[in-house]
Amino acid sequence: MSQESGLIDGFGRRVTYVRMSVTDRCDFRCVYCMSEEMTFLPKSEVLSLEEIAVLARNLVACGVTKIRLTGGEPLVRPGIVSLVKSIRQLPGLHELCMTTNGGRLQDLAEPLRAAGLDRLNISLDSLDADRFRELTRTGRLGQVLTGIEAARKAGFERTKLNAVILRGRNDDEVLPLVEYALANNLDLSFIEEMPLGVITEHDRAETYVSSADLRQLIRGRYSLEAVADDTGGPSRYYRIPGHNIRIGFISPHSHNFCGDCNRVRVTTEGRLLLCLGNEHSMDLRAVLREGDQASAAVDKRVQSALHESMALKPEKHHFDLGEEPQVLRFMSATGG
Ligand code: 5AD
Ligand code: SF4
Repeated sequence: MSQESGLIDGFGRRVTYVRMSVTDRCDFRCVYCMSEEMTFLPKSEVLSLEEIAVLARNLVACGVTKIRLTGGEPLVRPGIVSLVKSIRQLPGLHELCMTTNGGRLQDLAEPLRAAGLDRLNISLDSLDADRFRELTRTGRLGQVLTGIEAARKAGFERTKLNAVILRGRNDDEVLPLVEYALANNLDLSFIEEMPLGVITEHDRAETYVSSADLRQLIRGRYSLEAVADDTGGPSRYYRIPGHNIRIGFISPHSHNFCGDCNRVRVTTEGRLLLCLGNEHSMDLRAVLREGDQASAAVDKRVQSALHESMALKPEKHHFDLGEEPQVLRFMSATGG
């Protein structure tokens, strides 16, 4: 790849990391993410596995070196292991990661590792079985803990746990989660709840806990030392002296999220989003499906669309001008 063929975003930074949502479906119904009754996208609107692979191939051809597969829950998508295998073989890709709820890792950790998946992020908001059930509605704690163990046995290293903390619901689990992460040698990130999608379960203003509050709580028992190796984005990392793991704080509210974030996402429907808090996007599905379907022609169209979308400065809304500027997407369709 020549320097000129790389993707440069609206802030002048080279885009090397892309998250791709492979499904909007999930077997859990976390209270901050989904409503109890969800309507999912019709199949025709979801990128096929082949289309996802074509997008991945072109992203990598344009200089992307790291891809994260997300959902919804990526492991509910049939064919996910073969998709991992085909993406991992792309020359130039350094790292292929996945964010999962862990519920199916018991069966899939080993095939995923064999297919070349490099790293896992696993969501875990509670270590209490009843609480876990309340927060995920359909999830089982035991299933996820077994999945975490299966990931370790399959050889995954530097697995990271993600915990969304809600005041009054699981803010008393912060220290137990830190202890669990320390005991199992797992990185752990605490995520502030983001106002994505319309949820009915709780009032977000009442459940909001800031990352600063969480750090203060943890500092009641452990000392936290800031780590310098920040990669950009809304995360801040800390270490507990004497331990190997990193503790991260992802703060979309209390941190200037957009201006400091270079994360690019592809939604389940094939929309390229340069920013999570912004509805404006490039419809890559249309680019994939319209016109000459010969693979060279598709690659050429996709790559020029990728370059074109980079020119889009977040404060200038060139695409989809008819849309309302509210964020009505759920995280599950966007990719965590
Ligand atoms: N706010 C914050 N985090 C969310 N996630 C899903 N929806 C939200 C939200 N509204 C989290 C999941 C998972 C990660 C990928 O995103 O818990 O850990
Ligand atoms: Fe599923 Fe993740 Fe959303 Fe929970 S947060 S419902 S596990 S997609």
